[in-house]
Amino acid sequence: MDYSTKISERMWNQPDKGELEAERENTFIDDIVQKAHIERELLSVLEGVENAFDGGAGCGRFSILLAKQGIRVTHFDISQPMIDKAKEIAEKEGVSERITFVKGSLEDLSAYGDRSFDLVMSFDSPISYTYPKQEEVIGELVRIAKKRIMISVSSRLGALPYMANPIQKNQFILDPDSKDPWVQWCIQSREQMIDAFYFEKEKLYKAYESGLLGDPEEAKQAYDRGEVPWSISYHFMPDELKGILKKHGVKNISLAGPGAYARTIPNEILVKIMKDPGQRKDFLEFCHKFDSDPYVCGMGKDNLFAKGEI
Ligand SMILES: C[S@@+](CC[C@H](N)C(=O)[O-])C[C@H]1O[C@@H](n2cnc3c(N)ncnc32)[C@H](O)[C@@H]1O
Repeated sequence: MDYSTKISERMWNQPDKGELEAERENTFIDDIVQKAHIERELLSVLEGVENAFDGGAGCGRFSILLAKQGIRVTHFDISQPMIDKAKEIAEKEGVSERITFVKGSLEDLSAYGDRSFDLVMSFDSPISYTYPKQEEVIGELVRIAKKRIMISVSSRLGALPYMANPIQKNQFILDPDSKDPWVQWCIQSREQMIDAFYFEKEKLYKAYESGLLGDPEEAKQAYDRGEVPWSISYHFMPDELKGILKKHGVKNISLAGPGAYARTIPNEILVKIMKDPGQRKDFLEFCHKFDSDPYVCGMGKDNLFAKGEI
């Protein structure tokens, strides 16, 4: 097993992961924008889709959404706690009989035949966590897709600004009184993060060239010491992702960078918009339009979105 797979497994197997992930889009506005973008895309392509594969499906944000539309979904993930949380939510939503839960890693999709699923999807970066096999994994996901593929991977242009902004998540806090531990951490450590910040040109150039924001060697050593490092994550450039999909025969490819528009707006205004249901609906609709423009598609938050036909 590769280090990437082992590290991902250990990290995503943390017992509280499922619970934390299930709460995410209630706490941070950039997550709300990203989820709304993917939801809108998914719901617009379901005609003729009877079954779907969700690779790295987590706590079921999108697998359950599709099951609610009457689609049979294979919910595939490396982490048992995430699968358990997804099962719990699917039961509550009354759709568990339409979902097959499978524990496995994206690096091995040999159990599935060519063109097995009308729609293949994988959102919020599971593909990036398979570094250095990310290209092969995309090829395998295309192989098992019959009609469409829709993915989101870590975005290089979207993530590089984080390296010069350790307080970027503060811009997107919806409710500063939220009990969410990450929200409270962002608020409490804001000044300290600013004080400790130093613009490290070399690190930025290295990440820009390599697509790796951290050092895989450091992650491997931490893993060997028994620690729980963040998954090694490969960040794609827009043209690179498009090229890989094209090489594997995907047609009519388009990309988007969910979060690009929201990034330009200060927290006070974002919160105001989110608290008014009418403005919120209109805002999320416009974000989808703006973030799908090819000139900004790489500049979303940490995800680059791609869709295409087989
Ligand atoms: C950020 S979550 C996204 C979950 C879901 N796709 C969503 O958008 O809500 C990433 C998921 O990828 C899964 N994952 C990470 N590495 C994986 C791998 N190599 N194979 C399969 N799943 C993986 C994790 O367990 C986690 O559930």
